[in-house]
Amino acid sequence: MAKKLKFPAGFLWGVAASSYQIEGNNSNTDWWEWEKQGKTNEQSGTACDYWNQYEKDHDLLQKLGVRIFRTSIEWARIEPEEGVFSAEAINHYREILGDLKKRNIKTQVTLWWWTSPIWFQKKYGFHRRASIDIFSRYVEKATSELGDLIDIFTVFNEPMVPLGQGFLGGILPPGSKNPCKFIRAVNHVAAAHKKSYEIIHRIKPEAQVGITYLYNWYESEGSGFFLNAINRIAQWYRIGLLGNKIKDYQDYIGINYYRLGKIRFDMKNIKLDSRHQTYFGFTIEEDSNNPMRWITYAKGMKLVLEEAYEKYKKPIFITENGTPTNAGIEDDNRVEYIKTHLIEVHKCIERGIPVLGYNYWSLLDNFEWLDGYRPRFGLVEIDFSTLERKPRKSFYEYAKICKENALEIDN
Ligand code: BGC
Repeated sequence: MAKKLKFPAGFLWGVAASSYQIEGNNSNTDWWEWEKQGKTNEQSGTACDYWNQYEKDHDLLQKLGVRIFRTSIEWARIEPEEGVFSAEAINHYREILGDLKKRNIKTQVTLWWWTSPIWFQKKYGFHRRASIDIFSRYVEKATSELGDLIDIFTVFNEPMVPLGQGFLGGILPPGSKNPCKFIRAVNHVAAAHKKSYEIIHRIKPEAQVGITYLYNWYESEGSGFFLNAINRIAQWYRIGLLGNKIKDYQDYIGINYYRLGKIRFDMKNIKLDSRHQTYFGFTIEEDSNNPMRWITYAKGMKLVLEEAYEKYKKPIFITENGTPTNAGIEDDNRVEYIKTHLIEVHKCIERGIPVLGYNYWSLLDNFEWLDGYRPRFGLVEIDFSTLERKPRKSFYEYAKICKENALEIDN
């Protein structure tokens, strides 16, 4: 017998995507340069060409029946040269966001999703104090020009990922391995976030403003005191280090939950290799059947929601949750992933945790940073030679959930 898990009225069903990963040809960014230096498996090129073909993708959003679309805007397009703002790019973003509004789809817009203009990275970078004012000036401009079309603001997406891997691990731009620069950059991003929070509220008092955290669940193998301590440190590093500095400057907590990080200690692996998640002997176990080598763990969704609510006592938005498949249309395991994770979300809502909405990552197959185009996260498959969009089975299953505001499960 099937049973329906009803979600609260007004629950915001959505999907997420980021500008750099889908728009194509963002050649004025530090990431584009990084790709040209051969640091990624593939180059992003035209990506999904969302910049030109966004109406097609908005048709898909309507077919899905989502109430919200989480997207982002590119600083490098809006401010192509220091202090010079592009009216053309701003107008184009007005058209894109306006098109979503016409279709009655709410917008959740991220202002910085890992990419910076080349001029910013060359002259400033977040390790320099001046970055706070430079970044806030962009936020002020973007909010005054586009704010009327934005329902929910996310200032930074998962900043600890690019800060850690860009200033300590050296595998993302700007490619440094310098703990002093890292600490300074974390402090400056925290200050830039607080300043942006105030600017956005001054221009649009009713706005909802937050940040997203890559909030996976970490467990250590064995229950030794040492490993448990490492586990707590890993969690503090990923969430607490920045989150504690900005905790009163978030109207909601944005959680990107994907997987279980099982920490192990391996005496034979005393080296730093961020690309393979090896940190001086501590490694994260991998699932070789998964295109990102990630371990799926639906229960972790509940564990992170409980932990985040306990810590911040703020409404939560699940800003990303998803799983990769290989190229091709078949994605039964994605359907299973979505359902099992939503069951955990439902349990949390029943226990009184205020979850505002859920975004599946992602609408389309897209440019997966260092991994290029191989891992496919889309509800919609993209043929990257023709850019044809083909909905997968998960698209229809997720559409059903969005439309019914409920998940049907076997009893
Ligand atoms: C990031 C996305 C990325 C996804 C899958 C998230 O952490 O926000 O940009 O594509 O993970 O790796």
